[in-house]
Amino acid sequence: MALLEQHTLAELPELVARLEQAFAALPEFAGSAPGLERMPRVLDEVAGRLGDNFPYFHPLYAGQMLKPPHPVARAAYALATWINPNNHALDGGRASSAMEKEAVAAIAGMIGWKEHLGHLTGGGTMANLEALWAAGRLAPGKTILASEQAHYTHERISGVLRLPFEKVAVDARGRMDLDALETRAGAGDVGCVVATLGTTGAGAIDPLPGILQLRNRFGFRVHVDSAYGGYFTLADNLGADARAAFDAMAQADSVVIDPHKHGLQPYGCGCVLFRDPAVGALYQHDSPYTYFSSRELHLGEISLECSRAGASAVALWATQRLLPLLPGGEFANGLSACRRAALAFTEMLTKDARFVVPFPPELDIVVWAPRARSASAASALSQRIFDEAARRHLHLALIHLPVSFFASAWPDLVVDRPDIVCLRSVLMKPEHEHWIDEIWRRLSDATPQ
Ligand SMILES: Cc1ncc(COP(=O)(O)O)c(C=O)c1O
Repeated sequence: MALLEQHTLAELPELVARLEQAFAALPEFAGSAPGLERMPRVLDEVAGRLGDNFPYFHPLYAGQMLKPPHPVARAAYALATWINPNNHALDGGRASSAMEKEAVAAIAGMIGWKEHLGHLTGGGTMANLEALWAAGRLAPGKTILASEQAHYTHERISGVLRLPFEKVAVDARGRMDLDALETRAGAGDVGCVVATLGTTGAGAIDPLPGILQLRNRFGFRVHVDSAYGGYFTLADNLGADARAAFDAMAQADSVVIDPHKHGLQPYGCGCVLFRDPAVGALYQHDSPYTYFSSRELHLGEISLECSRAGASAVALWATQRLLPLLPGGEFANGLSACRRAALAFTEMLTKDARFVVPFPPELDIVVWAPRARSASAASALSQRIFDEAARRHLHLALIHLPVSFFASAWPDLVVDRPDIVCLRSVLMKPEHEHWIDEIWRRLSDATPQ
């Protein structure tokens, strides 16, 4: 049976031996871990329990933003755990800190920054928290704005930071409405606008060039949350609006891109970047316990978290070494393939009278509703199709979308509730491109004629 990848297993013994050589000058020592003889039994139980999951690794899993890491990331991460470096300080992770700086500089380079300040984080929420924390320190008490379709954590983060937060309306494609932003910014007291490039729900791209023009007039900071979408700047098949937004990313004040979403990494790997390295001064603190081993920058000096997995940096570095972040490269081609899958799937949905697509995808996330008389009937049908598809081993996702998204595509919809539960598919595995016919067949079978 060939379902889960095996390359990592073959690589590890030699890698561990190679790593051990670096410490060969030390006297022999075999650590004593209690319970080793009972380990196989426990691990057998673990393998059994882990089977209780959706098959995130398989192309028929086309639901949420979930997939396993690249084998090189898995192997590098596993190898690093033999040392278990801590990237808080060079004291705890000399090699992995250097690898983090190189890996983060490559992400900054991808968006066009030669200079930057940045580091990895536990994930996108923590990365966004750092960006909004910096915005709050630079404009104390001023309001954070994000679109109605922005990730829910922006409001919560603002609450944690005790910063006022307001939502900006979106247009019929889920993108921040520039007129609404202009009106709100004109009323004053806006410290930072969050522009989402790739909303979680529908992959919508906020109009960053227009938001930057308003920044020139009103003086707020612009933070780009491209936790999901950031890497798509490398894709060669974006629409014109999305391309313009990604091309403008370098003008933002801060950017978040999550390697643990489209960067082929295991979870806990987000990344926050600041255009102006002087933001580093905001982080100034004393740590009486660390920072003694070197005068070079310790990553803990420029991040809010203390301990962080050095293994995350090692895995990311290895992945970028294997698959550099270059337009036209293998990594970029993978993103373009995901987008082709989304476009092909959208065409199939659009041609079938059983479905309504509110707008075409800007990235690789497709949302659609099953046609029914009313919003509530369509919502109930979505749930039925979702369940039926899962019985056929096709795993989709569901999402609440405002009925206003369907105004032009579905004029005769009876609006008996403000939103519709829709079907959603994140086609984030390049393999999805070659599985689209099979996905379509199973969706079609799961949908009433
Ligand atoms: C656009 C966006 N921002 C932030 C987040 C939060 O990231 P994390 O789940 O890594 O904390 C997500 C998660 O899906 C996201 O899509």
